[in-house]
Amino acid sequence: MTLTAATRNKAESLRDQIRHHNYRYHALDDPEIPDAEYDRLMRELQKLEQDFPELVSSDSPTQRVGDVPISAFGTVRHELPMLSLGNVFDEEELQEFHRRVLARLELGTDTELAYAAEPKLDGAAVSLLYEDGVLVRGATRGDGSNGEDITHNVRTIESIPLRLLGAGFPTRLEVRGEVFMPKADFEAYNDKARSAGEKTFVNPRNAAAGSLRQLDPKLTAARPLDMYAYSVGIVEGGSLPSMHSQIIDQLGEWGIKVCPERRVVSGVNACFEFYRSIGERRDDLSYEIDGVVYKVDSLKLQRELGFVSRAPRWAVAHKFPAHEELTVVEEIEFQVGRTGAVTPVARLKPVFVGGVTVSNATLHNIDELHRKDVRVGDSVIVRRAGDVIPEVASVIVNRRPKGTRRVQLPKNCPVCNSRVTREEGETAARCTGGLFCAAQRTEALKHFVSRRALDIEGLGAKLIEQLVAGDRLKTPADIFQLTKDELRELDRMGERSAEKLIQSVEASKTTTLPRFLFALGIREVGEATSASVASHYGRLANVLAATEEDLQTVADVGPVVAARVKAFFSEEHNLDVITRLQDYGVEWPESAPMARPADGPLAGKTFVITGTLPTLTRDEAKDLIQSLGGKVTGSVSGKTDYLIAGEKAGSKLATAEKLNISVLDELGLRSLISD
Ligand code: IVH
Repeated sequence: MTLTAATRNKAESLRDQIRHHNYRYHALDDPEIPDAEYDRLMRELQKLEQDFPELVSSDSPTQRVGDVPISAFGTVRHELPMLSLGNVFDEEELQEFHRRVLARLELGTDTELAYAAEPKLDGAAVSLLYEDGVLVRGATRGDGSNGEDITHNVRTIESIPLRLLGAGFPTRLEVRGEVFMPKADFEAYNDKARSAGEKTFVNPRNAAAGSLRQLDPKLTAARPLDMYAYSVGIVEGGSLPSMHSQIIDQLGEWGIKVCPERRVVSGVNACFEFYRSIGERRDDLSYEIDGVVYKVDSLKLQRELGFVSRAPRWAVAHKFPAHEELTVVEEIEFQVGRTGAVTPVARLKPVFVGGVTVSNATLHNIDELHRKDVRVGDSVIVRRAGDVIPEVASVIVNRRPKGTRRVQLPKNCPVCNSRVTREEGETAARCTGGLFCAAQRTEALKHFVSRRALDIEGLGAKLIEQLVAGDRLKTPADIFQLTKDELRELDRMGERSAEKLIQSVEASKTTTLPRFLFALGIREVGEATSASVASHYGRLANVLAATEEDLQTVADVGPVVAARVKAFFSEEHNLDVITRLQDYGVEWPESAPMARPADGPLAGKTFVITGTLPTLTRDEAKDLIQSLGGKVTGSVSGKTDYLIAGEKAGSKLATAEKLNISVLDELGLRSLISD
């Protein structure tokens, strides 16, 4: 094949389109086309570049992730040093900063100076050098004068354009900003690492900084990183606007992502107002911030003000209360949850962090406790961000007192003394006491009465604990036998509250099937699954009668959940509780089971899906098959008619082949349907 001008133009046009859609998606968060269409453009370009390797350029959107890891980081000397910021912690210090600025500029004390106010992002500072609009180098801040060359890694961050959009940019332009890991991605990353028994990140800042310092760009590419630009460094061969805020807007127009929470404010009171309003929304922002920054907006005035040591006189950071504080572990205890999970908890010397006083912090599970090696007496960093439960982020090992000991998982439940076991492949250790264990019973009852379950108002945690301790509550059914007279005898219970509680117990009897199923507290069966099971079967009797295989035909129910549900309803004592609940008048409307098309093209056929299909997710494939009357189960057996196998199909494929079951790929499934 010869490379024609038309092909060359085609490739360039595809690149332009992809760059434009990258910008819409990443910088504006406002995509114009569906992901599938974007993928199609990308595949088309990849194909062209494969056929004509001479078409590949380093700023092509296909060239984000390099193939080979680098062996060491090179050093980048910052032509203009990357400075730090002075801090203020309260309104008084902010007023002081403002007075100094006005005095230096010889302006009257009542001048309403314009400040650009922006969040102070909590990630890792980076410098991005664009030459003729093409990203040629990425560097860390380092000590401000010398950073590390991380070009191979910044290229993998999809919101960083490899080439600027539009025109009019200086021939050399250094963009500076903060690379960060969004909070939700950070939590998800840590949850996943924790259940895989791997090391977690202490906070989103370390996650960002650590991810940027990888020698292998593939590792960085797999981390969910993002970036906001907040200033410029080198500007040569062109000019920028005369106000900081306008420069940031201009960067945005060239396709660089900038923080949307920026404002130009006038005077110090407006600065403080900005601080308060961002502070109120701090927990709702998708990224971590540790304060706000005010910058004198006029570059002319910035130049007049200049620098002192390594910080500008024209800007200051106004810090929020810290999300991390230092304290001491006084005790490590093990708590038993509703499903018996035995969780280590650190009892701390109380410390004010993230806006509240914290005296307990989770250690998640025994592996995590061992990995961090937290011991009684240790100085630790506690972290509490947003509504996430406080956790011990790290140990200051060199402050460890003498004579501390590694903490071991107790062999017996600290509450009921039953054996504690750990199932193969599970991170949680569990008390084997079941509902014999007062802790599990208490938690199960708290769950049963909670707002999204039976919603019994007035039956709070303390009350349940008292009733369990007094042996008045053994199962949820006992709740419906409580009398006003016995309630009146309890601590902090007057005549009126006893009466009100009896009323809300009475009111809770009329419920719905999804709520009832959820209230039972079956492991792995949350609200969504309960709703799905309820609408599939319509009535409780049908749920009880369902086989494990049939349960797997419910949307979102896989083999693990099906097994849990079946196991729960196979226990005599669980069925007893359900019967008693119904005897005492707990009721809900029942309906007919969901109609299953009995005459669809796939009626009577049983399918198993495995591996990754090219266009459908497994749930989509399942929905498709079910909508045509087919049945989808989770494991291959003699009753399976077809195995739908995608990429990375494992043992199910081998079993199907052994059993001589027809194996189809997604295309095969589609042609089966269209027959
Ligand atoms: S301006 C000359 N703006 O804070 C001023 N910095 O202590 C240079 N940071 O290392 C910084 N958000 O990584 C600026 N909106 C923002 C910022 C910000 C976070 C970080 C930056 C720098 C540190 C300064």
